[in-house]
Amino acid sequence: MSKMIYGTAWKKENTTRLVEEALLSGFKAIDTACQPKHYREDLVGLGLENVFNKGIKRNEIFIQTKFTPISGQDINNMPYFSSDDILTQVEKSFIKSKENLKVDFIDSYLIHSPFEPISDLVKVYKTMEEFVQNKEVGQVGISNCYDLKLLIYLYDIAKIKPKVLQNRFYTDSNYDKKLREFCKQKDITYQSFWSLTANPHILASKEVDILSKKYKKTKEQIFYKFLNQIDITVLNGTTSKKHMIEDLDLAHFSLEDKEILLLTNLL
Ligand SMILES: NC(=O)c1ccc[n+]([C@@H]2O[C@H](COP(=O)([O-])OP(=O)(O)OC[C@H]3O[C@@H](n4cnc5c(N)ncnc54)[C@H](OP(=O)(O)O)[C@@H]3O)[C@@H](O)[C@H]2O)c1
Repeated sequence: MSKMIYGTAWKKENTTRLVEEALLSGFKAIDTACQPKHYREDLVGLGLENVFNKGIKRNEIFIQTKFTPISGQDINNMPYFSSDDILTQVEKSFIKSKENLKVDFIDSYLIHSPFEPISDLVKVYKTMEEFVQNKEVGQVGISNCYDLKLLIYLYDIAKIKPKVLQNRFYTDSNYDKKLREFCKQKDITYQSFWSLTANPHILASKEVDILSKKYKKTKEQIFYKFLNQIDITVLNGTTSKKHMIEDLDLAHFSLEDKEILLLTNLL
């Protein structure tokens, strides 16, 4: 599984072009959501269709999307009605995602954020487990879950265990240190967003500056490589072809253990 996922939020009408550019540049994984307020999932689907027509195979690309609860939706533009019960909401959203993405299999399906009542959250999770059992989904997970107790609860009640935690990577949550430890123990992939946006102080640090000069890589490349080496899969929504190519060019160097330790101390 690729440790760098192309993120498709906020790209509006440029979504198709950027998805194509990202996949043709070498990204192997795509993140989106059935949340028209922030994502044009339909245009992600067009981008996918275009690259499949250009020879990239479906099984070479990891497609991840999300069920967004009402609290995260624009009520005038969402894949279900607010009057629908929770099971209908997740079923309609899932059908819409497959239609938008023009696929019958979603590699990774996430709950976009926890919501209440918890009994409804569990119902949604159980429905997502059925999608896995029906071989329509490869794995399930959750996003924006900063409460370790809730993640443990979900893990414990799950028949099909969560495989992804996708969270904002920032100081306010103490960089999810306890959550990440739990993820490591339970073989849950931790995916970070806001990795660059929330951490300009780290990018501006002398530690990153020294490593950037030593490895002849940009500061962003050093930080992304560090995240990958501490088992974090990065969501990257760059709109720049140059950055796409740079961010994918991380395989040819590795930070030393002592350098990882130095950067870990900045978190
Ligand atoms: N689950 C959630 O609730 C949630 C929330 C937010 C985001 N996400 C996901 O995460 C994805 C990424 O979003 P994000 O907010 O983390 O940030 P991002 O879209 O990756 O962008 C952060 C900034 O980093 C810049 N950048 C990227 N690579 C760079 C490089 N090599 N050098 C210099 N600048 C670089 C980008 O500018 P350029 O365009 O100029 O490169 C952009 O301004 C989203 O598209 C979405 O899929 C999920």
